Amino acid sequence: MQARKKVTVPTLVAMKAKQRRIVTVTAYDATFARLADAAGVDILLVGDSLGMVVQGHNSTIPVTIDDMVYHTRAVARGTQAAHLCADLPFLSASISPEKALMAAGRLVQEGHAESVKIEGGEDVAPAIERIVRAGIPVMGHIGLMPQSVHAMGGFRTQGKTEAAQQRIMADAKAVVAAGAFALVLEGIPADLAAQISAEVSVPTIGIAAGPHCDGQVLVIYDLLGMNPDFNPSFLKKYADLAGVITGAVRTYGDEVRAGDYPPPPVASPK
Ligand code: KIV
Repeated sequence: MQARKKVTVPTLVAMKAKQRRIVTVTAYDATFARLADAAGVDILLVGDSLGMVVQGHNSTIPVTIDDMVYHTRAVARGTQAAHLCADLPFLSASISPEKALMAAGRLVQEGHAESVKIEGGEDVAPAIERIVRAGIPVMGHIGLMPQSVHAMGGFRTQGKTEAAQQRIMADAKAVVAAGAFALVLEGIPADLAAQISAEVSVPTIGIAAGPHCDGQVLVIYDLLGMNPDFNPSFLKKYADLAGVITGAVRTYGDEVRAGDYPPPPVASPK
């Protein structure tokens, strides 16, 4: 089979004009990266959601820049054609543009990310501008911003009032004006996502934001059905790996206990 062409930032930007939807999934290690890349995804996102699905925290806040560098390096080893984007974790973009640049630089230089994602709107525009000026592409992330879970009072849909919608639209425009090449829209009404997608020049990538974005992103553990207790309305589970994994490990355990695994050695020919 012919090797897939590398997906670059210009490829992704051109996809909006060509009306080709951008397929994004998260990845946190080399094995999942290799499998998702082989499935033809456009972007592998090393999301700080790893704090919840890999590390077992109840938010993304405890994730450190060292954690992000570690997982990004692992994902890079399994990535071939997909574009590799990594999250700047909690506080790394909001203290100062210089601190944000240092964190972004680590993800690119040590983790081998090809772009970084930053949560925030107008407030982080100076950080985005500084990072982009240094030659690092930035993906924005507005709407429901999991790093602001305490300010939002939980993982709740944003943009429920006219004023809130206007703020989100202003955030979208500020992030794009600062130089972001793409924009994640999370947890906002579908009609607002449609309006932002129509008004900004860069591709929008939605999660819990309806069907009118230029692409979609899901946490890979969620789309594979790894957590039977996580069933938000936007999520479609494309597999039941929780059942498959627990069933396989149970069968292995049963066979070990019964003395059926490993089987007796095959006598070698004399
Ligand atoms: O951390 C993450 O996985 C994300 C995506 C869900 C957009 O930010």
